[in-house]
Amino acid sequence: MKVSLIICAAGKGERAKLNKNKLLVPFNGKTVLERTVSAFMNTKLIDQYVVTSSKEDLKEIKSLLSPFNVTVVLGGETRTDSVKNALKKVTGDIVLIHDGARPFVTKKIIKDCITSAEKYGSGIVAVPSSDTVCLSDGKEITSYLGKSGIYDVQTPQGFKTEEIIKAYKNAKGKTFNDDGEVYKNTFNKLNVVLGDKNNIKLTYPEDFSVLEKDVLRKFGTGFDCHKLVKDRKLILGGIEIPHTKGLLGHSDADVLIHALMDAMLSACALRDIGYYFPDTDYKYKDISSVKLLKEVIKLLKEKGYRVESVSAVIMAEKPKLLNHIPKIKQNICKLLKLSEDDVGISATTLEGLGFVGREEGISVQSTAVLIKE
Ligand code: CTP
Ligand code: MG
Repeated sequence: MKVSLIICAAGKGERAKLNKNKLLVPFNGKTVLERTVSAFMNTKLIDQYVVTSSKEDLKEIKSLLSPFNVTVVLGGETRTDSVKNALKKVTGDIVLIHDGARPFVTKKIIKDCITSAEKYGSGIVAVPSSDTVCLSDGKEITSYLGKSGIYDVQTPQGFKTEEIIKAYKNAKGKTFNDDGEVYKNTFNKLNVVLGDKNNIKLTYPEDFSVLEKDVLRKFGTGFDCHKLVKDRKLILGGIEIPHTKGLLGHSDADVLIHALMDAMLSACALRDIGYYFPDTDYKYKDISSVKLLKEVIKLLKEKGYRVESVSAVIMAEKPKLLNHIPKIKQNICKLLKLSEDDVGISATTLEGLGFVGREEGISVQSTAVLIKE
């Protein structure tokens, strides 16, 4: 039994107010249409994909879906017209018809829909309505439909292909709410498949906030230490701290920025600072680590990441850093374009223990959280 899928994407998305077809606007790097296509492809339950597109979006949809094995066809004025056109391309015994604007469809729904269409001729995904439903003109309620036996209809809607084609032929001239109603008009029966409350159709601007929450975060840790010597400046987080000694290094030895850079690089699985800025390269001799940090931000950007928050603990016996922390923190916020709430800098002594305790060096341990754009 071969299963085809029609994804309706030929609308204008006017109610979403995104200034273009709502299916073609990326959220966290991915459009709704790509999400919907991927949701079906991941199930491996579909043999043929047909996607409807308006004339104006045709080029964009074809290019967006070029990594997928799909056929893009022209839709029509109404969704019904779009489906009618797409049906001409369908080669499967069963066809599922789905709104491109429902990316949260699950494998269970798809499977149940196919099974119902095979067994009964149709499978219409629907969920019991949770609200009391009434009829109203927006001013007055004319009647109550109640709570029990009321369902919200979703998609996919599955059918035996030859039956839905016949139903569409019979439907000429009449208007229907959806494909299910077209089918019922001819076959007088329609089977329900239990859907999922989360399988919403993204319609109004507020519906899209669900996609904004769906972000990919990556965490990384970093560590660095430098030796304290006479006649060097002590730079921490790009700020010069008055002290009798400073940190030794090929660059300005800003141990805090070094540890932060390594945490950021590690979070997105890039190499460490020694790899990108080798101390054998004269170019980096005495360079300000702030410059290196800017390079690291560029590397993250190329990989599609930005920093969401960082945290670091500076281990130093002397000088006392308590009063310098606010300035250091402010500078890190400025460099990473983060708010004060997203940068945590603390300092501690090591109670006289080890190389830090003997004032031979300063070390920093850090973490970074990145967001995939
Ligand atoms: N659709 C279609 N052909 C049309 C109209 C709509 O293929 N002529 C598709 C839409 O792209 C959408 C689905 O049908 O994925 C459900 O329609 P709807 O949510 O109403 O989307 P739009 O028509 O794009 O939005 P709006 O009504 O707000 O303009
Ligand atoms: Mg519409």
